[in-house]
Amino acid sequence: MPNRHRQTKSKYTADRNIPGSFEGETITRRRLINLGANGAGAVAVAAFTLPALGFAIAPIFKRQAWEWQPIGHPADFNQTTYATKVINITPGIGEAGNTIAYVRARDPSIDKETEDQYNHWVALSSRCMHLGCPVRYVSAAQRFICPCHGGVYDFRGMVAGGPPVRPLDRFYTRLNQSTGFVEVGPRFSVNNELQRFSPRFPGEPIDGIGQYLYPAQFDTAPKP
Ligand code: FES
Repeated sequence: MPNRHRQTKSKYTADRNIPGSFEGETITRRRLINLGANGAGAVAVAAFTLPALGFAIAPIFKRQAWEWQPIGHPADFNQTTYATKVINITPGIGEAGNTIAYVRARDPSIDKETEDQYNHWVALSSRCMHLGCPVRYVSAAQRFICPCHGGVYDFRGMVAGGPPVRPLDRFYTRLNQSTGFVEVGPRFSVNNELQRFSPRFPGEPIDGIGQYLYPAQFDTAPKP
């Protein structure tokens, strides 16, 4: 035991016995200069890269702006067919931010999902849930048809055939009591039970485990 103590002490002393050093110095000057140079280099690199990284990443966390958009009076919509409405889903980029929403009045005999203040009118997105091509409503067949790969949706926007992985996305709707207009709000996705989810990309199924495999994006607009 005493021997081991002596060995430890002598090693400690030898570590600090630096040739040419002043008493009390515990690190060589060469090592100190190296450390200083490396530190200065790291600070310089961080000064260049961190702001660029911030600019690159910040948009991912920025929530998309949205606003309620008037699309007509309640009398403009009925339960038997869809009205085609142009709405803006990406503000600030002009007509490039426009898209088509298919809108009809809710029909309690077929729209079984729970009624609330946001679904008195059914507003379907025209974006196919396979790869995102625009679908077209064919009133004679009461179907939405996608021209790209033959996707077919029924009158409620449920998948009736082809490769789409989930029903058509929807938009929140409401009646603006002060103006009397029906308004369209942010988009949301639905599963095959028509439960609402934060918007997902086309090709992302959200039934069962799919809702965890394809989580919502950071930049999606919040619920109204
Ligand atoms: S994009 Fe619509 S079926 Fe492929």
